[in-house]
Amino acid sequence: MNSSSPIINIAVFASGTGSNAQKIIEHFQKHPSIRVALVASNKKDAGVLTIAAHHDVPVLILEKEPFFKGDAYLPVLRQYAIDFIILAGFLWKIPVPLITAYPSKILNIHPALLPKYGGKGMYGHFVHEAVIAAKEPESGITIHFVDEQYDHGNTIFQAKCPITETDTPDSLAQKIHLLEHAHFPAVIENTINGLL
Ligand code: GRF
Repeated sequence: MNSSSPIINIAVFASGTGSNAQKIIEHFQKHPSIRVALVASNKKDAGVLTIAAHHDVPVLILEKEPFFKGDAYLPVLRQYAIDFIILAGFLWKIPVPLITAYPSKILNIHPALLPKYGGKGMYGHFVHEAVIAAKEPESGITIHFVDEQYDHGNTIFQAKCPITETDTPDSLAQKIHLLEHAHFPAVIENTINGLL
């Protein structure tokens, strides 16, 4: 946490549409002490950038070389006095220097009940296709701290939804998104406040 300010600054990292980022930005818009200070994306045309612009949140485009082989944008994150990093559909692995600089302060959301259906290549539609193919009776979301391995850090929160016989990967994705939108912002707030 930065010592000069009572405000806690969040950076949201996202690679895609950004519906979770939007819910997070809206949730903290009028918060007295927590705000989304930055949206970072590795994709120049990601929908999340439009959402950030709409809400006047500064944007950072992440390039591969400086992210993985350079300083992992640490100086920029410090410039924005970032205290917590929230991964909301961010597809790059977080490099060790960032994990070291933000111990237990990087949170990820995964669209399944970890430890099942996680790891490299298990993202987005691939997760829901695997869950449906395995005829699981339920799926859900996992919000967890980020460590050096994909989808591996300590779990903070899980929520479940039932899967019916008529569910498809698409319909399951919709159910999961609803769960994410309902829980992610509050879980972030509670984690920052030390309640979880
Ligand atoms: C979410 O389902 C999240 O769990 C996964 O990527 C998706 C991002 O969706 N990691 P959106 O861009 O927030 O709509």
